[in-house]
Amino acid sequence: MSYVKEKTVVKVAIDGVIQESQPDELLIDLINRTGGAVPHVCYHPQLGPVQTCDTCMVESNGRLVRACATAVADGMQISTKSAKAAAAQVEAFDRILSNHLLYCTVCDNNNGNCTVHNTTKLLAIEHQRIPFRSKPYEVDNTNPFYRYDPDQCILCGRCVEACQNVEVNETLSINWEDPNPRVLWDGGATIGESSCVSCGHCVTVCPCNALMEKTMLGHAGFLTSLKKSALSGMIDVVKGVEPETGYGSILQVSEAEEAMREHRIRKTKTVCTYCGVGCSFDVWTKDRHILKVAPEHGPANGISTCVKGKFGWGHINSEDRLTKPLIREGGQFREASWDEALSLVTRKLSEIKANDGADSLAFISSSKCTNEESYLMQKLARAVIGTNNVDNCSRYCQSPATQGLFRTVGYGGDSGSISDMEKADLVLIIGSNTAESHPVIATRVKSSHKLDGQKLIVSDLREHEMARRADLFLHPKPGTDLFWLNAISRYLLDNGLAHTKFLDQWINGLDEYRKSLETFTMEAASRISGVPETTLKMVHDRRGEGHVHSLGDGSNSAHPGFRYFDSHFEPLTCHRQLHAAGNRRFSAARPQQRARSQRPRIYAKHAAGLSACG
Ligand code: SF4
Ligand code: SF4
Ligand code: SF4
Ligand code: FES
Repeated sequence: MSYVKEKTVVKVAIDGVIQESQPDELLIDLINRTGGAVPHVCYHPQLGPVQTCDTCMVESNGRLVRACATAVADGMQISTKSAKAAAAQVEAFDRILSNHLLYCTVCDNNNGNCTVHNTTKLLAIEHQRIPFRSKPYEVDNTNPFYRYDPDQCILCGRCVEACQNVEVNETLSINWEDPNPRVLWDGGATIGESSCVSCGHCVTVCPCNALMEKTMLGHAGFLTSLKKSALSGMIDVVKGVEPETGYGSILQVSEAEEAMREHRIRKTKTVCTYCGVGCSFDVWTKDRHILKVAPEHGPANGISTCVKGKFGWGHINSEDRLTKPLIREGGQFREASWDEALSLVTRKLSEIKANDGADSLAFISSSKCTNEESYLMQKLARAVIGTNNVDNCSRYCQSPATQGLFRTVGYGGDSGSISDMEKADLVLIIGSNTAESHPVIATRVKSSHKLDGQKLIVSDLREHEMARRADLFLHPKPGTDLFWLNAISRYLLDNGLAHTKFLDQWINGLDEYRKSLETFTMEAASRISGVPETTLKMVHDRRGEGHVHSLGDGSNSAHPGFRYFDSHFEPLTCHRQLHAAGNRRFSAARPQQRARSQRPRIYAKHAAGLSACG
């Protein structure tokens, strides 16, 4: 039986040119993919259609539709440039500009990627038909890492979508009933007092300068470090010439300044080393000053970061940072030159080796080191000193999991991907405070749980964020996970609830395993773990018929961690977790990925007033 789905091709005419597509592709993605140019201010491919700006209007078979919210269909005739579509796009963007003071030349966001700037240019806007209207709010500077300027905020809602449905911290909203709407933190608190966890999603997706990293402000542009009074004067000058020159020539000046920035701002791709999620992003620097961390296309994280990756780099230029070696003498440190310090280390290592042998020395490299640094460390240990006493801290926390994985799936790596976790029907988290230890992974689970009906079971000693969100929270006594997990396996097997077809096909030694579970009754597990039997049975009930994904972190590192790992896997094996979506080792049918466009939106759009809107 083949699991490869035949691809259906649909043909769509875009401005008279036939383009091929897949039935679930959004028109905006097709237009962008095939080199078209339709404005789209609130749409971000990783957020899906927010539908607040209406700048993406196109004509489809004579009717105006939002390109960001319309799936392609065979035989569609799309016009992106018809008089009706063009008028709708400009009308929508006029309303956007009435919320934004356009002063690109002296703006820190003038770096070639400002959606408001680029859309002004794309639509060849020369004059602002609806004048800018200031909002009666102060700039909010109360977060240590970013600030919000209501006067620059175009109310696109991208930040709200990111906070509500990607990070799922649910801090941001917009009250559309307010005569002067703005983005609200916890309904009206200052950012500093709010529940914001400073993950930075909102700042990353903001299409203009309303939300900006504080480290960008006054540093990115050539003229942006001027005092506020001087900057305001310059903005007034720009506004003064606009009626005569139009925006076209003003944008040209700002683009010349932007081109100069490109020569002094470096964008270096790197991978975050704070945790093992593997988030990657560009680090923008100007000399030694870090302007910002910009995630976009990270294979593991997309636009996501947590506070550590996005903002946790103050140590790089900290005055407390050691820049010279220190030698301890008489219980006190004194500064030394690198030559003196390295000579001392060489002499001491040589003396110890000469007196006690090479194996009296051991070398441990940090998991924060690069592969290359760890490689050089083992070269020093093996080739120079002559010992195999070399280790890495990632090895000794990961080794129980590796051993457990070899015993269960025959492979020392994770058996599923991050996207498998997103698509799973049930996620079981044991001994992991995922929202703090691996925050970007937690966002994927929180999002699927909130929007896609994914079930979540958490077992932990602490009632942390994931536990509070869970459909079922188990609070077993310390060290008893093995018991209740094994009892659930036995319960499933005894009651004919295991996925026998899968077990017959893939699992060795099932009879021995079944025998090993003899003592693990629900009654015993309940007595030992302190979790009521009825609650343990609910773990099975939450399983449903779908795919299950297990996340264990702390428990796998415990002694004997590999046994915990076995126990995670065994009930899951009974539940066919190993046939999870996208599993590389066992190819099988993927469950249908739910389209993000079908997800419910939590706030009303504000720009639906176009009379011709379909
Ligand atoms: S930083 Fe994160 S938690 Fe805070 S408002 Fe933005 S998206 Fe929400
Ligand atoms: S702060 Fe930025 S992302 Fe949020 S609504 Fe305003 S312009 Fe849009
Ligand atoms: S989740 Fe946070 S700490 Fe971990 S890699 Fe991503 S940005 Fe870094
Ligand atoms: S991009 Fe389509 S409504 Fe904003």
